[in-house]
Amino acid sequence: MELIIDTADVQAIKEINELLTVTGVTTNPTIITKSNKEPEVVIKEIADVLDEDQLFFIQAVATDFDGIMKEAKEISQIRPKNMYVKIPVTRDGLKAIKECKKLGIHTLATAIYSADEAFLAAMNGAEYLAPYVNRMCNYGDGVQEVKDLIEMLKVNNLPSKIVAASFKNTYQAHELIKAGIQAETLPPDVIMNMVDHPGTKIAVGEFTMNWQKAYHRTTLFK
Ligand code: G3P
Repeated sequence: MELIIDTADVQAIKEINELLTVTGVTTNPTIITKSNKEPEVVIKEIADVLDEDQLFFIQAVATDFDGIMKEAKEISQIRPKNMYVKIPVTRDGLKAIKECKKLGIHTLATAIYSADEAFLAAMNGAEYLAPYVNRMCNYGDGVQEVKDLIEMLKVNNLPSKIVAASFKNTYQAHELIKAGIQAETLPPDVIMNMVDHPGTKIAVGEFTMNWQKAYHRTTLFK
């Protein structure tokens, strides 16, 4: 599975990138506003933190077809490779995804609330599909809907990868990893909750305490 970080917090990206095996970073307009930096500034900072093989996803802000295509071309030129344009699956967005496929621009279909929307974006050539798992839970069982999508792509032999998004807890992430999801984009707090199980800290404390009692030091050899 590809692990992607869903944030524009450059410090968090640096820390998680050192700690874990990260495929890339996703942003969206709201995430960029939360950085409290100008978009050009934060986009450059993130691009500088990533190595050239890591993927960087930036969302088009324009909502009409021509505007999305203009921004898609701009986004795709930010780095020499591995730039992906996130496009919401509105009618204009679906048209833009189809056009980007013709032009060889990498796309991620986003703001997906149903497996059907995602499936149609996959048919238009979106390389990644981002169902909003937690938000979908307001309308039904978001996790199950994404499991359906995994199956729909498989039986129809479509190559798009699902990058499940909008997670609020590690349970949602766990269930989809178990179901064979191709990628997840997770906010730093959910990632760190997967890392920092309190039981691990307690276990390590016990090892150190027992060792120190027996050998009066905290290293293996003298
Ligand atoms: O990429 C953003 C997507 O993950 C939405 O997340 O937390 O706004 O539902 P959220």
